[in-house]
Amino acid sequence: MQHRAIGVFDSGVGGLTVFKEIARLLPRENLVYLGDTARVPYGTKSVETVQRYALEAAQFLIDQGVKLLVVACNTASAVALPLLRQHFQLPVIGVIEPGARRAADSRNRRIGVIGTEGTINSQRYPEAIHALIPDAQISSVACPLFVPLAEEGWAEHEIARLTALEYLQPLMAESIDTLVLGCTHYPLLSNTLRRVLGDTVSLVDSATETAKTVQQLIHQYDLENPRAGGQHTFFVTDVPTRFERVGRAFLGKSLGQIEQVQIG
Ligand code: DGL
Repeated sequence: MQHRAIGVFDSGVGGLTVFKEIARLLPRENLVYLGDTARVPYGTKSVETVQRYALEAAQFLIDQGVKLLVVACNTASAVALPLLRQHFQLPVIGVIEPGARRAADSRNRRIGVIGTEGTINSQRYPEAIHALIPDAQISSVACPLFVPLAEEGWAEHEIARLTALEYLQPLMAESIDTLVLGCTHYPLLSNTLRRVLGDTVSLVDSATETAKTVQQLIHQYDLENPRAGGQHTFFVTDVPTRFERVGRAFLGKSLGQIEQVQIG
């Protein structure tokens, strides 16, 4: 069991931000990534559709024999996590609870959350943060344009700064001291967000926090790989050309072989 891989899935390329952090923190672990590129984006789809996609993506990774499942997509974590835990026996980690735990460090308890429409509409981040600090004042904004900007390689472009200024205005008016980056793509925009928000606002990167949770969980369940593995395998559900190109920018290196598969 310990030699098996950790399965990571996302709607597409964005989950590579989570994958990268897991690989950095756990270099001995074998990782299998599935990007559901044929059906991306999840962020604008209905709850029922995202739940169905998430079940199919999880089943594919379980068929690959993974020992633990990471839902590296905020939208899928927001709407499908209880369902996945109900359906499958293995430990399933989403990105919301880890991000919420970190956000609870807020000093003034005024917290901003940004994500896709699906994640923001689900209210999962405010629920998870309120479970930790009931009197937190939480303001949420969907920032759909950040996803194409990150994929286009324009995360630090002037257009990204102006877009961020527009989206974040209501959060700045609330004097937030913490901003949860509730979407896989947003860590790429960290520099731009810092330029807009200044140094006094802490950015909570769910990817880093999720990787720490994976580390704790494999230790807790005695699932750590005793051998030096570190093998990385990538699957996508559509032609890999774009995933390969954009993924290189997300991961900071070439992904190697990417296999196209059909799921569902
Ligand atoms: N991976 C998605 C998320 O974190 C963003 C892209 C999409 O909408 O599918 O919510």
